Amino acid sequence: MAKRRFVESRFIQLAESFGFREIATPTFESLELFTAKSGPAIVRDLYAFKDQGGRDLALRPEFTASVLRFYVNDLRSLPKPIKVYNTGNVFRYEEPQKGRYREFFQLNAEIIGAAALPSDAEVLALAIGTMRAIGLKQVKARIGNIGILRSFLPFGPADQAVVLHSLDKRNFEMLESELARLGRKDLAEPLRRIVSLSGDASILDEAAGILGGAGAEGFRYLRELGNLLGAYGVSSSDYAFDMGVVRGLDYYTGMVFEIDSPNLGAEKQVGGGGAYSLAEVFGGERVAQTGFALGLDRLVMAAEAEGTFEPARPLDAYVIPIGEGTQTKAVEILTSLREAGLWADIDLIGRGPSKNLDYANAVGARFTVLLGDRELKAGLATVRDMASGAQREVALADLVDALRSR
Ligand code: HAM
Repeated sequence: MAKRRFVESRFIQLAESFGFREIATPTFESLELFTAKSGPAIVRDLYAFKDQGGRDLALRPEFTASVLRFYVNDLRSLPKPIKVYNTGNVFRYEEPQKGRYREFFQLNAEIIGAAALPSDAEVLALAIGTMRAIGLKQVKARIGNIGILRSFLPFGPADQAVVLHSLDKRNFEMLESELARLGRKDLAEPLRRIVSLSGDASILDEAAGILGGAGAEGFRYLRELGNLLGAYGVSSSDYAFDMGVVRGLDYYTGMVFEIDSPNLGAEKQVGGGGAYSLAEVFGGERVAQTGFALGLDRLVMAAEAEGTFEPARPLDAYVIPIGEGTQTKAVEILTSLREAGLWADIDLIGRGPSKNLDYANAVGARFTVLLGDRELKAGLATVRDMASGAQREVALADLVDALRSR
């Protein structure tokens, strides 16, 4: 939990410093909230059930649909843009394996109602900035634009979704059979080639060539996005343009991105997001919407693999009362240490001094404060430096300073 809290708090600090504010949404929602637009990748994996009133409900598989429902119902009159984040557990009925769980934690952020390009850049800066704040150096973002693929696919939304899913899964057999069904087998070859393109801005020209003029605006958009990211201080080595980022959710419409850790094997994606359209599905007006979610469980694994965690802060002092009648005075001293902001604990079992020293050692306390009858009468404590074993007597009035300064 210390590691998880560390990762979570770095995200929260950065999000707050960017002007995002925290919201909370319910753990379960109406089933239709997720069936409306999230697509088979999520809907198949829902924990769905009926409540005692016969209502169809589901445990949340993600936050985005809930946030947009909240926006449409309650936040629409707030000054735009709306910049919100939330964190918590989400549930998907997937095949569990390393890094893939049925209950996992997401760190989520959304911007609603800003201009598209600056808000896409802002969420990318927050997502990539969070990686740096956690100390991850090996992770890399892949940024694509699903709007380009959509503009190249002359099909209705349902057929487009099927083709995009086959591309997301890199299932080229399925891609070809779907395109054959739609009478556009000729699109298979350019699609195959384009989704394999990944690299710096030069791949955008190559991709535009393959599509022969389709999606020109989308390529220009990505170039401008790259320039803006530079202004945010995001280095070009932190990301690649990647035309193969398709995403498993149906609501994406424009810029899409994923962040991978090279150390996690099959489940290497630590985050993903992009620009989408959901407010309209829930009865709101058309506004730009963009955001992302990071997988907390996977971020912790990535940080462990890169060795970025600092050792947990130790107890400053473990107080050991010795002999009858010293307990009350020892608790007073403990309280004064705690009031001074030191992290301090005390023997709660009544063990002898040597057992207590073993315990203090085991929990990693920096100092022990030994309080015997004789010392207390003289207004003194024996302070032992647990690393060196050095011991000295300190006046009780100087105890806080002594524990702080060393
Ligand atoms: P997602 O890609 O489905 O996007 O999930 C985001 C992240 O959650 C993934 O990159 C991964 O790190 C983590 N994750 C997903 N499934 C599992 C699992 N079974 N076990 C552990 N970790 C997992 C979304 O959820 C979108 N709502 C993101 C978004 C926000 N797009 C726009 N706004």
